[in-house]
Amino acid sequence: MKILLVGASGAVGQAVRQTLAHHQVLTAGRNSGDFRVDLTDEASIRALFQAAGRLDAIISATGKVHFGPLAEMSTEQFRIGLEDKLLGQINLALIGQHHLNDGGSLTLTSGIISETPIRLGSNATTVNRALEGFVLGAAAELGRGLRINAVSPNVLAESWNKYQNFFPGFEPVPASRVALAYRRSVEGVENGQVLRVW
Ligand SMILES: NC(=O)c1ccc[n+]([C@@H]2O[C@H](COP(=O)([O-])OP(=O)(O)OC[C@H]3O[C@@H](n4cnc5c(N)ncnc54)[C@H](OP(=O)(O)O)[C@@H]3O)[C@@H](O)[C@H]2O)c1
Repeated sequence: MKILLVGASGAVGQAVRQTLAHHQVLTAGRNSGDFRVDLTDEASIRALFQAAGRLDAIISATGKVHFGPLAEMSTEQFRIGLEDKLLGQINLALIGQHHLNDGGSLTLTSGIISETPIRLGSNATTVNRALEGFVLGAAAELGRGLRINAVSPNVLAESWNKYQNFFPGFEPVPASRVALAYRRSVEGVENGQVLRVW
């Protein structure tokens, strides 16, 4: 399969790339990869698909959210997750669906905070739930055998040093295990699902 992987240089993306190495994987990122793209910029997404050509699968392993106390959260801070992780991935799917071959797939990334809230995480919980809602709604309408799923990872072992203070009592999972859910989404038959790796 010809697969476009956005966020390929990240903690999740690197593992996904390795797990899908038996396919042709085109990599994209804001500052790295075969193609440069900024998912917060619609024109940049359109240019990415023009350059990449027809695809069998599109994977997003990116998305920024704002972590901070609810009592001090400004609208501007809340918009960070809405514009980047939520709308960025949704726009990738909205535009990308038209560049997929019949039977192709879209795989987006949410996260465990969708269902297990943490302190300072209200922006992330909102965005992850909304992404999962988009996947549910979009799956019902996609034609031509196209499918869409979200992978919801727990904190990665590889990111534990960075995030452990946010996730007391959580059990980190190896990125290689998380990557298997992306493989399941791309090579399997599931549609409209949240593939949890907890
Ligand atoms: N790491 C975890 O423990 C964990 C757990 C659960 C969920 N998640 C979710 O998994 C996703 C990836 O997390 P991560 O930790 O792997 O991130 P990361 O290591 O920070 O990597 C982010 C990747 O996304 C690319 N990127 C950043 N902003 C972009 C933009 N505006 N447009 C296009 N590409 C952009 C980066 O490209 P460049 O390097 O080229 O700039 C990089 O490849 C996020 O949605 C995160 O919430 C992560």
